[in-house]
Amino acid sequence: MTTNSKITLPPPQMEGGMPIQEAFRKRRSTKEFNGSELSLAEISDILWSMYGMNRSDGRRTAPTVKNWQTTTLYVILPDATYIYNPTEHELQLILSEDARDIAGTQEYTHSAYLNIMLIANLILMTSLDGEDKHQAAACEAGFIAQNAYLHCASAGLKCVSRLKIDRQSINKKFNLSDNMYATLGVTIGK
Ligand SMILES: Cc1cc2nc3c(=O)[nH]c(=O)nc-3n(C[C@H](O)[C@H](O)[C@H](O)COP(=O)(O)O)c2cc1C
Repeated sequence: MTTNSKITLPPPQMEGGMPIQEAFRKRRSTKEFNGSELSLAEISDILWSMYGMNRSDGRRTAPTVKNWQTTTLYVILPDATYIYNPTEHELQLILSEDARDIAGTQEYTHSAYLNIMLIANLILMTSLDGEDKHQAAACEAGFIAQNAYLHCASAGLKCVSRLKIDRQSINKKFNLSDNMYATLGVTIGK
C-alpha cells in the first residue's frame, strides 16, 4: 500500500458474511501470521466491523459508556501508522515508518501485516473517577476486540487481542498526552 496523508477506504460490506452462530463457533486466537498483505477492502471491513458507524446518528458497532466513544484505533501497517476516522471511514496518516516493533512485545506482532492499537482518551469520561475510567476503557476495548474476532472468523482471517503491549514506547512513538491510554492491541492477518 502506498503512503498517503489520507486514505479513503472503500465502502464496508454491511451485509452477508457468516451466520453469527457459526462465527461464534469459529472464533479463536491465532498467534502465527505469515505477513501477507491485506487489501484495502479487507481493512475497510475489519475497521468498520470493529468500531465503524452503523447508524446515522454516529453511533458505533461497539457500545461505549454514555456513547462517549473514547477509543481511537491506531492502524499500524508495515510502512505507516494511521488513525481510523469512523465518520469519514478513512485513514489519516500519523507516522510514515514501520512501527510494528512497538505494536507488541511478542515476535509475531513484528511480522503481521496489521496491528491495531486501541487507545482511549480518558479525559472524555468526564463524570468518572480514576479507576472507573480505566474500567470503562477496558470494557470498550473488549467489545471492539470481540467485533474483530467475530469479523475475522467470518472473513477467514487470523486474529488475536493482546495486553502485552509496551505502553511507554507507544506513548513516545505516537506522542500521546497523559490522558491517552493504550488499552489493548489487536493483531490481524493471514
Ligand atoms: C484481555 C486479553 C488479553 C490478552 N493478551 C494476550 C497477549 O498479550 N498475548 C497473546 O499472545 N495473547 C493474548 N490474549 C489471547 C489469549 O491468550 C487467548 O484468548 C486465550 O489463550 C484463549 O484462546 P482463544 O481466544 O482462542 O479462546 C489475550 C486475551 C484477552 C481476552
